[in-house]
Amino acid sequence: MKTITKLLGSVALLGASVAHAGELEVTHWWTSGGEAAAVAEFAKAFDATGNTWVDGAIAGSGGTARPIIISRILGGDPMGATQLNHGRQAEELIEAGLMTDLTALAEEQGWKDLVNPSSLLDACTFEGRIYCVPVNIHSAQWLWLSHGAFEKAGLSVPANWSEFVAAAPKLEEAGITPLAMGQQGWQQNLAFGTITIAIAGIDAWRKVSVERDVETAKGPEYAAVFEAVANARELARASNVQDWNLATNLVITDQAGGQIMGDWAQGEFQVAGEVAGEDYTCLPGLGVNEILDTGGDAFYFPVIDDADTKAAQMALASTLIAPETQVAFNLKKGSLPVRGDIDLSAANDCMQKGLEILAAGNVLPSGDMNLSADTQTQIEDLMAEFWTSDMSAADGQARYADIIASAE
Ligand code: GAL
Repeated sequence: MKTITKLLGSVALLGASVAHAGELEVTHWWTSGGEAAAVAEFAKAFDATGNTWVDGAIAGSGGTARPIIISRILGGDPMGATQLNHGRQAEELIEAGLMTDLTALAEEQGWKDLVNPSSLLDACTFEGRIYCVPVNIHSAQWLWLSHGAFEKAGLSVPANWSEFVAAAPKLEEAGITPLAMGQQGWQQNLAFGTITIAIAGIDAWRKVSVERDVETAKGPEYAAVFEAVANARELARASNVQDWNLATNLVITDQAGGQIMGDWAQGEFQVAGEVAGEDYTCLPGLGVNEILDTGGDAFYFPVIDDADTKAAQMALASTLIAPETQVAFNLKKGSLPVRGDIDLSAANDCMQKGLEILAAGNVLPSGDMNLSADTQTQIEDLMAEFWTSDMSAADGQARYADIIASAE
């Protein structure tokens, strides 16, 4: 690793000459309607500091964007700042000395006292130093339901996952796809994780996802999970969209009954003018176990050896965590702020539910925090195969247990 560090350390400096004073290219994968509206708040706040946000949006999901981001940094063409998820995605870049140490700024601004929960800052910390600024809390464990779709089928809106499953035949009779699902491994894996917490419960989930207990992964609780996922696969058979926001759009337009998706889906409902509690309902923990993970997004600042760029990077880090930016951004993004000291009374019903769950301390670490990027990719690949084939629940469970056995 040391030789790699030296080599990479010198190439990382090459990008420096490209930027003009105060200009910072910022890469991210926020390209849906709701995401674009939210990231525009960051750009506006940064520009107001006298610097210039140069937008480096990368279309597609995080799975498409992350390899591009990482290879640019490794290849000596670093951007000024970049989004990544909370957790271990930047681990190797930090180890190679390619990410800026933000510890001094964090200490000066007291991030340790204001970031809530503290696990978010822990996820930015490597060997005692802080390398990222967390900007939001996003959780995966939500079911988004279309009021119009259930009305059309003559049904009331379900209160939990089993009511949703029971409603599926009537939705189908009314020409509605019960479950909207984008055909990408990360979305299918997100649904798998969320169904696991509802079906196997939090203790079994923790044993497997945090403690990597192979016996539990092979056991009866997870057998029930794989049966439930195989059933959900049937409910999503008619859903042939790719991107998550296109799947959300099926719910917004009442063509699908529901979607299991992270709370960023709220941004799409908002842009479409839908009102929580009137046009749609959100069920945290699928209405079964109301617990949320504290995943989300953080910004990292690749090392660039230029004083103006470094100053702009620090200005951006400060802007992202400032109270006004936190409110403006998170209200549009559908995520929760990373500071416990700000007023979010303008938040809609769904965000209020999220805030209550957070305040009660019912939180879990996210998959990206628990498992290495490599293990996550293996699970996503398995889920992509499971959801688009007829793989039996038993085979899916056996292959999953094998991945857990060698997980890092
Ligand atoms: C996640 C990210 C969210 C959201 C989502 C879909 O990785 O944390 O902010 O944008 O992807 O693009």
